[in-house]
Amino acid sequence: VEKDGTRVFDLRMRAGRTEFRDGRWTPTWGFDGTYLGPTLRAERGEKVRVRIRNGLDEASTVHWHGMHLPARMDGGPHTTIRPGAARSPHWTVAQPAATLWYHPHPHGATERHVQRGLAGMFILDDGRTAALALPKRYGVDDLPVVVQDVRFDGDRFDHGRRIMQNVGFLGDRTMVNGTLSPYREVADELVRLRLLNASTARTYSFGFPDGRDFSLIGTDGGLLERPAPMERLRLSPGERAEIVVRVRPGERAVLRSFPQDDYGDAWQRRFGGGDDSFDVLELRAAERLRPSPALPARLAEQETPDGGGAVRARHFDLRRSGINGRPMAMDRIDETVTRGATETWTVRNADGMPHNFHVHDVQFRVLEVNGAPPPAALRGPKDTVFLASGTTMKLALRFDGPADPTTPYMYHCHLLYHEDEGMMGQFAVV
Ligand code: C2O
Ligand code: CU
Ligand code: CU
Repeated sequence: VEKDGTRVFDLRMRAGRTEFRDGRWTPTWGFDGTYLGPTLRAERGEKVRVRIRNGLDEASTVHWHGMHLPARMDGGPHTTIRPGAARSPHWTVAQPAATLWYHPHPHGATERHVQRGLAGMFILDDGRTAALALPKRYGVDDLPVVVQDVRFDGDRFDHGRRIMQNVGFLGDRTMVNGTLSPYREVADELVRLRLLNASTARTYSFGFPDGRDFSLIGTDGGLLERPAPMERLRLSPGERAEIVVRVRPGERAVLRSFPQDDYGDAWQRRFGGGDDSFDVLELRAAERLRPSPALPARLAEQETPDGGGAVRARHFDLRRSGINGRPMAMDRIDETVTRGATETWTVRNADGMPHNFHVHDVQFRVLEVNGAPPPAALRGPKDTVFLASGTTMKLALRFDGPADPTTPYMYHCHLLYHEDEGMMGQFAVV
C-alpha cells in the first residue's frame, strides 16, 4: 500500500517450466510463478496500481477482464508492453464485489499467450457483500476454480487445433488452478466455488452427476438479486460464476462438465466439444462438517441498466469472418458511444458454430434471449455471453467511464482463436 492508500500489486510475466505430472516439466508462462498468476483482491472505492514487467521475449499486455476502468488502463491491444519493459496501469475500483480475471490481449496472439499460462483471478469486495452470510473464507469455503483444458505431447503442451475444431483448440483433459486430477478437502456444509472458464475455446456445462442442485449467487460482474437454484450452468470462455454447493459428511462430490444438447448441430457437438464430458473437481468432505448459515434470501441490488432511457440501439452480427462483416482493424474505431448514455446492443450469432460476445469496461444486463426474458443464469451482471448458433440477445449497457476519443475499448468473441482471427471490434467513449 502506497502513502495515498493505493493498493499496489507486482506482476512479472515470465517463462519457466511447470511440473504438471511427476518428473515431467512442461515449458509454460506465468505471472510471478511459472503457470497462471496470483489472485489479486481489492475493494470498491480503493485505488489500485499494478506494476507489470514483461520478462518474456515477446510483447504482451495485461487486460482486466470485467473491470470498469479508463481505456488507457484497460490493457487492450493498443497498450502492449515490449520485452523487458514495464507498465503500471492504475484506477479506482468503482463497481460491486465480483470475480473478475486478468489475461494478455496482444492483437492476434491472445490465444497463445493464455494457453501458455498467463491468466489469474481478480476478486473485488464491497462492504455490503462482506456483511452477507455467504461462505467467504478464501481457500477454505470460498474457492477459486480456474478451469482450463489441455493436451500434452510428451513433456510439452500440444496446442494443435484439430482440423474440424473450428471453435479453436480443444484439450482432452481439464485442470483446475493449473492442477491435473484436482481435489479439495472441505470441512463446511456450504462451499462457494468461484468458477472461471479460462479455456480458450471450450464451453462447459457444470453440474453434479448425482443430480443435486446448487445455488447460483453471482455472474460475471457480481451478485444476483437472489440465489437461483439450478442443476446445470453453462460457462463459455471468459465467463465466471459463483455457485454455492452443499456437501454431505464424508462424501466425494464431483463437479462435472456435461454434454450440451443445445450447443449446436451434430457436427458442433461432436467436433466442437459439445458432446464432451469431464470430471472437473472433486470435493472431499470431512466426516464432520462445520454448519454453514443458510444463504441470504436477498443478495444485491442490480446496478446494471434495465434499458429504460436507451438513446441508441446497435446491432452486431457474429460470423467467424468478423463482426458485422468486418474483421478487426487496429486503426479503425467501429462504434462511438456517448459518455453516460444507455444503449441497447442486439447481438446475433448468424453463424453455424457457437460464439460468445464480450464487451470491455462495462457490466451489462441481458434483456432478452430470442425475444424472451433471460433464464436465471443470465439475470446477473454480465460482460460475456454465450450464443449458440442462431441465438439473438438484447443487452442493455451504460458507458459512464471517462471520455477518451483516441483509445478504444474492445468487444469480441472470447473464443480466442476467433478473436485472434479478427472477430473483434473497437468502440470509443466520447
Ligand atoms: Cu477477456 Cu478482450 O477480453
Ligand atoms: Cu475483457
Ligand atoms: Cu467465435
